[in-house]
Amino acid sequence: MSRKILAALGSVVLALSMAACSGDGAGGGGNDSDKPGDLTIGVSMPTQTSERWIADGNSVKEKLEAKGYKVDLQYAGDDIPTQSQQVDQMITRGADVLIIAAIDGTALSGQLQAAADAKIPVIAYDRLIRDSPNVDFYVSFDNFKVGVAQATALLVGLGLQTKDGGKGEATGPFNIELFAGSLDDNNAHFFFNGAMETLKPFIDAGTLKVKSGQTKIDQVAILRWQQEGAQKRMEDLLTSSYNDGSKVAGVLSPYDGLSRGIITALQNAGYSGDMPVVTGQDAEIASVKLINDGVQSSTIFKDTRLLAEQAVVAGESFLQDKTPQANDTETYNNGVKVVPSYLLPVQTVFKDDIKPVLIDSGYFTAEEVAAGQAKG
Ligand code: GAL
Repeated sequence: MSRKILAALGSVVLALSMAACSGDGAGGGGNDSDKPGDLTIGVSMPTQTSERWIADGNSVKEKLEAKGYKVDLQYAGDDIPTQSQQVDQMITRGADVLIIAAIDGTALSGQLQAAADAKIPVIAYDRLIRDSPNVDFYVSFDNFKVGVAQATALLVGLGLQTKDGGKGEATGPFNIELFAGSLDDNNAHFFFNGAMETLKPFIDAGTLKVKSGQTKIDQVAILRWQQEGAQKRMEDLLTSSYNDGSKVAGVLSPYDGLSRGIITALQNAGYSGDMPVVTGQDAEIASVKLINDGVQSSTIFKDTRLLAEQAVVAGESFLQDKTPQANDTETYNNGVKVVPSYLLPVQTVFKDDIKPVLIDSGYFTAEEVAAGQAKG
């Protein structure tokens, strides 16, 4: 290419990038002349039926507002068309960045294309948005490790392993059942794969027996992560596979809401006192109380304050026309591209960990744990 053509191309690129930077705040990310008060961040959350998403939404909103940004926070009632509509509205109302925790990770391609056309950066929050080139960043936890931690907590709860990874005193065999989350949530697959990789040697050795024989994710998944769905499936399992006097010793549950449904089914069937080992995730306050009371065995704590903080950091980078810093650029292929990600670590919480991990860090007070209710 001749120098002349290169120079001409260079000026076109310069003109285009100047045009891209000269927006007035109605979409298109930030620019130097925008003050935080002129910029709006659209935050789309899946549901208010789960306490964790309320905490996530509030944390993101508070942190952005503390920096002076405007926030358009919407909850979609776990309804896919509602979420699509809410995101559409955020775009037409002139959002400068979108932060989205999707209900169905594959259902927002149209909205994301509209966002891309309006030059609005999109951050996937905790749940990866799939099948779209227009996901600019992903903030989450190491979801495979969450699954490993859940399965390990099941092994520890059963006494097959010690907390420090050593061999436990129990020998089994133990009857267990498996649950997974909603198949349209990318995370559900990561959790289940991480858990199954950890449990497989024990299942292969006959130390753990999945008495129902249901070990495939599509046999054990619960649509929309619903508590009632988990309760119903546990009831069905008890009727179909444990009507011969045999007992369930452990249940792999990937989320506290499901765990509470499973526990209700077990209690209704007469389990009490010496409850089966039930795992969880999210450290929802109702489940933390159950762990404190010795009813649920464990949960995986994902600090929503840190996740919200990362979403804010990433959002602010985009608003300043910078690229947010990723710590993983390999794991999260959304079917179209690998989405640069910032992944946070997780912590397993048994009864003994409630005080050091949840109370001493200010996540919950001792009173909230005792009551099983957050003051908000
Ligand atoms: C997942 C999330 C879990 C849990 C679940 C149900 O996407 O990673 O932490 O909250 O949804 O809400």
